[in-house]
Amino acid sequence: MPSKTYGERWQILRQYKESGQSHIFVVRDLHGGERNEFILKRLKNKNRIKRFEREIDAIQSLEHPNIAPIVDFSLDPCPYYVSNFYRGPILEEKAPLPVLEALTIFEQLVDAIAFAHERKVIHRDLKPENIVFDENDKPIIIDFGLCYFLKEGSTRLTSSSEPIGSHYYMAPELEGGQNPKITPAIDIYALGKILYFILFKKHIVRENIEEGNRLERLSYKSQLEYISERILKRTVVLNPDDRYTASDLLIETQNIKQLIIEHYYPGLAGSKCRYCGEGVYKEYPKATLPIRTPGVEQDGTFRVFVCSRCMNVQWFLGES
Ligand SMILES: Nc1ncnc2c1ncn2[C@@H]1O[C@H](COP(=O)(O)OP(=O)(O)O)[C@@H](O)[C@H]1O
Ligand SMILES: [Mg+2]
Repeated sequence: MPSKTYGERWQILRQYKESGQSHIFVVRDLHGGERNEFILKRLKNKNRIKRFEREIDAIQSLEHPNIAPIVDFSLDPCPYYVSNFYRGPILEEKAPLPVLEALTIFEQLVDAIAFAHERKVIHRDLKPENIVFDENDKPIIIDFGLCYFLKEGSTRLTSSSEPIGSHYYMAPELEGGQNPKITPAIDIYALGKILYFILFKKHIVRENIEEGNRLERLSYKSQLEYISERILKRTVVLNPDDRYTASDLLIETQNIKQLIIEHYYPGLAGSKCRYCGEGVYKEYPKATLPIRTPGVEQDGTFRVFVCSRCMNVQWFLGES
């Protein structure tokens, strides 16, 4: 018996996932070559057709390297859309990651969300299950099934009884509130939690935030201090107004990444100050000094760098 085909083009090869709202199939393009596989997402309940249409609209308006594009879709008689099949590891398998790798993934996610926010789309369901990876380890955001358009006159499609998003990643203002205001800050909260997850493979539990700011506890590694102080405290916080916008978060993430790179590969004139993050190190002339380090037999020769702004001094073993 021939297997089921959608739109006379997409032949089902196997069921891949199933959720409350949708079936996810691996399909083959009958118009393509022998070896081609895509993902077909089929809506289970036709009552949700408006939301599904919105999901397709949103994705089509977001052409970005870290957002899965739609290859084909149909709303009638059976609503489905087709996207590329991203077979890389899932985030759960990748975490926990070293800080720089985590920040590199995070930066791309923030870039994609900043792009979506600019186009007035709020994802509203950012969580590890909705992030897949391609063969080159590039993170890709999927599942705009709960997205919200920040356009004037945009209607709500979610009834008040319908749970929105995952508990761990849901912004506090959405919990239990009657018609809470939907703002881009909802995604920023989830992004902060995703960064924490990528680093530790653990969720920040809500209680930690409600009991006060316990994020300091994360900073047992010096590199993580930047992240807890400068990212988590401006993302995973109760008040949405205290959260960064996506574009500011992107800039901050790039700055922190740069600082960490320079922290681990120091000693270059022209690099950013590790302390104030704004000035630039200049090599101090004639400061190659023989210095006896306590407990070390030999004299060491150090190069000395001074920040142009805050005068922070760094010295590194080695001759110029
Ligand atoms: N394009 C894709 N490539 C790889 N896996 C995918 C793709 N689309 C969906 N999946 C997998 O299927 C799951 C469910 O798909 P998703 O679009 O999130 O549907 P739902 O709205 O039902 O959560 C995802 O968590 C992911 O594991
Ligand atoms: Mg999903």
